[in-house]
Amino acid sequence: MRLFRRNPSGRAFAGPPTCLGSLIWNNQTMLAQAKPEPPAKAPSRPRRVVQRFPGRRHPRRGRRRGRPRDANALHPSQASPVRRDETAAMSSVREHYDNHLGPVYAWMVGGETSALARGDAEIGALDVAPRGGGIAVDLGAGFGMHAIALAERGFDVVAVDACSVLLDRLERLGQGRRIRIVRDDMQSFVDHLPGAPELVMCLGDTLTHLPDDSDVEALIEEIAGVMEPGGRFIATFRDYSQRLDGTRRFIPVRSDMDRNMTCFLEYSESHVLVHDILSERRGAEWATRVGAYRKLRLAPARFRSMLIARGFSVEQSSEPAGMVRFSSRLDHPGNPE
Ligand SMILES: C[S@@+](CC[C@H](N)C(=O)[O-])C[C@H]1O[C@@H](n2cnc3c(N)ncnc32)[C@H](O)[C@@H]1O
Repeated sequence: MRLFRRNPSGRAFAGPPTCLGSLIWNNQTMLAQAKPEPPAKAPSRPRRVVQRFPGRRHPRRGRRRGRPRDANALHPSQASPVRRDETAAMSSVREHYDNHLGPVYAWMVGGETSALARGDAEIGALDVAPRGGGIAVDLGAGFGMHAIALAERGFDVVAVDACSVLLDRLERLGQGRRIRIVRDDMQSFVDHLPGAPELVMCLGDTLTHLPDDSDVEALIEEIAGVMEPGGRFIATFRDYSQRLDGTRRFIPVRSDMDRNMTCFLEYSESHVLVHDILSERRGAEWATRVGAYRKLRLAPARFRSMLIARGFSVEQSSEPAGMVRFSSRLDHPGNPE
């Protein structure tokens, strides 16, 4: 079943498929709850729209399991016993970010200041500037490393993310800029647009958080349906289509004197289960938490053909650490190949 809604220009379009049977998002409930927002008017501080999510508590969350507390206060790299607070129960993406990644995300990406500088350089290299209505959308905006850079270049930014911890940070960092902060599933972004966007971004491996290829396809369809003709859609994601094996599945993320983060990847046909192993110094001892969530093994060739099928012309490039970048332009709106 598909839900039919109207985009800001009044055209009817098909929303994302519902009832996917996915463990990750309950789209149907969220679409039913979503309410259109009035146009944004040059706010002096970022506006905040909060979309409530259906409560889906993982049956194992909150249960304390594993080894008893250990008094040894050694760095995890010393292979000593550590306190284990949580086992690797698979959680939804939102739960995983709210409880596990959100609080340490800025640290994971090298700290707030350097991440913002990197985001700014990345946006600078893309040569984007308001040329039409000036609306830019950042899907999976996190704490705003790209949204803030877009606002500084004169865009009216709609920053959508599901994680309140990261959006709180964006609210603080984005003070005084034209950013509408929306807490909702990015698949519902059209419900929060003040007008047709000329730029949509989905950077930093966010697309692979969607449950399925069909959700990516539906998102592209929505973007093409609401975007200004000639508008740009820029996405980066990690190519998980090639399996890593053995010890190559352990990915060190970051480590310092107080924290260590390592990922472990477990592959299935269409997804990779990402186990995030986080050890933190707690006074005289170390605590380790493990959380896991599914990411999509989105094949770049498949993504490319989805874009072309919706009327985008596409430039593709490889980035470090297995990332791919797609910079696409809506050259044939409503008249795809
Ligand atoms: C890997 S982070 C990338 C953040 C940011 N774009 C960057 O480049 O640093 C993925 C972000 O997407 C958000 N996210 C994942 N799935 C989402 C969804 N379906 N709807 C809204 N946000 C989502 C997460 O909360 C997180 O902030």
